[in-house]
Amino acid sequence: MSDPVNVVVHGSAGRMGQAVIRAVLESTRARLSCALVKPGSGLADEPLDRVFGALKRDVDFSTSLDPDVAVDVLVDFSGPVALDGALALALERRVAFVSGSTGLRSEQMAALERAAQSIPVLWAANFSLGIAMLLRCARRVAAALPDWDCDIVEMHHKRKEDAPSGTALELGHAVADGRGHALAGHAVYARHGQTGPRSPGEIGFAALRGGDIVGEHTVIFAGDGERLELTHRAGNRDIFARGALAAAIWLAHREPGMYTLDQVLAPVE
Ligand SMILES: NC(=O)c1ccc[n+]([C@@H]2O[C@H](COP(=O)([O-])OP(=O)(O)OC[C@H]3O[C@@H](n4cnc5c(N)ncnc54)[C@H](OP(=O)(O)O)[C@@H]3O)[C@@H](O)[C@H]2O)c1
Repeated sequence: MSDPVNVVVHGSAGRMGQAVIRAVLESTRARLSCALVKPGSGLADEPLDRVFGALKRDVDFSTSLDPDVAVDVLVDFSGPVALDGALALALERRVAFVSGSTGLRSEQMAALERAAQSIPVLWAANFSLGIAMLLRCARRVAAALPDWDCDIVEMHHKRKEDAPSGTALELGHAVADGRGHALAGHAVYARHGQTGPRSPGEIGFAALRGGDIVGEHTVIFAGDGERLELTHRAGNRDIFARGALAAAIWLAHREPGMYTLDQVLAPVE
């Protein structure tokens, strides 16, 4: 077996950062090099076992990366406010960069593209491997059955403030892409009252909210007399951490470039 991949986690005080650390500590294919927290964080210089108990290793939470520490990949879940610093660190150390920080400005997306000229970069708004597979399936079904009607239904917990979800929109883009056009001009975000019949090529969205549901997405393809439904249900946030770690291990020793989560999945004909 090859040597474990050395992982630095940026945003280690956060919910996702800690889920990634837990996934690394439980993995035989990765090793935690450093758990970076914000300067001034209450966890700075604290031993990892303060949070991870029995899973502890000889690593402390730290506000800086020791130049002598071995690093293959930096995993960032510190959000848009801290992404720039995380990316600068990966560039300085010339190591692979995985980020799940969302809500990035267009300049930050451009900075990721620029960085990909010198290091391998993989950014995804949703690190669930199941959702990556659903995107792939939706694109293929849409391409194979271009005349079938397609609607996308999502349900999330009652605190979610935006609709449709970013993942539902991504699924809409995948369906449109499979049909060889853009989503704009085909998306229907709400139906109410005398809407008239469905237009050909419409991609409809419905957003349901309630309880503590982490996230459910169904892509419905409806033909005459038959219907195909592809559903993904997220049970907890650990799926994003596991997907990010799988991406980090896959990316660690690649050539510089911009990669996608779809590439982490095994290719199929
Ligand atoms: N792609 C996906 O699959 C996926 C899934 C879930 C969430 N997300 C995204 O991931 C991001 C984090 O989500 P979350 O729920 O984990 O949020 P969170 O709990 O608020 O965690 C963010 C953490 O980043 C830390 N941070 C801020 N500046 C930092 C710096 N300069 N250096 C190191 N750490 C720094 C914060 O520290 P303090 O606590 O000290 O302020 C905080 O602990 C968000 O953008 C969220 O939308 C993505």
